[in-house]
Amino acid sequence: MVHFKRDFHIVILKMIEKNYKGKVKDVHLIDEESVRIVFHDQITAGDGDKKDLLKGKGKLNLDLTYKLFMILDKAGIPQHILKRDSDNSIIAKNLSILPVEIVVRNIVAGSFARRYGLTEGENLKTPYVEFFLKDDKLHDPLIDSNIAIKHNLITSRQRDLMVTYALQVNKIVSEYFKLAGMLLVDFKLEFGVDKNGVLFLGDELSADSMRVWDIETREKLDKDRFRKDLGDVLQGYKSILDRLEKHDFEADRLNLIVKVLITPKKGVNNPAGDVIHRTLNNLGVPSIKKVNTGKIISILIDNPSTFDWIEKIDNAAIQILTNPLIEQYEIKFSFD
Ligand code: TMP
Ligand code: ASP
Repeated sequence: MVHFKRDFHIVILKMIEKNYKGKVKDVHLIDEESVRIVFHDQITAGDGDKKDLLKGKGKLNLDLTYKLFMILDKAGIPQHILKRDSDNSIIAKNLSILPVEIVVRNIVAGSFARRYGLTEGENLKTPYVEFFLKDDKLHDPLIDSNIAIKHNLITSRQRDLMVTYALQVNKIVSEYFKLAGMLLVDFKLEFGVDKNGVLFLGDELSADSMRVWDIETREKLDKDRFRKDLGDVLQGYKSILDRLEKHDFEADRLNLIVKVLITPKKGVNNPAGDVIHRTLNNLGVPSIKKVNTGKIISILIDNPSTFDWIEKIDNAAIQILTNPLIEQYEIKFSFD
């Protein structure tokens, strides 16, 4: 059995106990519930190998993050920003950030092109989701989400939620960018849990953490200008905002479908399953060991960002939707 060097259980469960200084942001604890996050003008690439100071970059990144997070919030994606504090700071929920980040790609670029020998600019048929381990020393390597789950870096429910939310973020932001003449090539999101274990979108969504191209010329407007020494980095960042400013955009409110799948526990009699078992045998389906039947309760939630729906549905499932002595349940979710 392989063991990760660090004890990630502790990383996940520990709330931010002391102030944290990142490469481009600082986090200051205000109280148990909230933090102040300051966006700096420093820009880095190659996990800090390449650095520069670009005056005004912190504000531009926060302007874009704030704009997008407010749209996502209204659409029903739970996110961490409580309020804008100043030009380059926000008050946000105190989250324990998960050690695995998620990347969504629409067009081949960056490490995806290098890893698979693909040509930058090819459209992917459907959005492609990847996970990366947050570890500068290891250069944030790609990680199989099943390994991340096996090693308790994230739970399988957190993984499923991250994917569900990230794909919705992709739809919403891509649509807005298209309206403003831009292509959302790819982006990275970080998620964290509050002290009750509720998952929220954290960190940022800015030109540092996404690739954005002009829809016609495919000119790069994001941090690739810095990574590849293309020049005019801040002008690219500003042009993303300027273009968005020209268009009012509001995403439709997302409807979350939560399905509670209830089945009999192992060893419990299931006469309805036995009938189907015999019928299938009579129809010539061989080698059936056991058939179980159950029920599905499908719940449509209007605004999932306003309350801790998983925890509430978990409680309901345990207390009234199932008989815990003889039944087990699983929660699945998707957006309408
Ligand atoms: P990549 O092509 O280098 O893997 O990056 C994909 C996208 O995710 C790109 O827009 C940059 C962003 N990203 C970060 O912001 N931080 C990271 O640590 C990683 C891995 C990606
Ligand atoms: N986010 C990493 C850094 O700031 C890697 C990169 O963006 O190239 O160093």
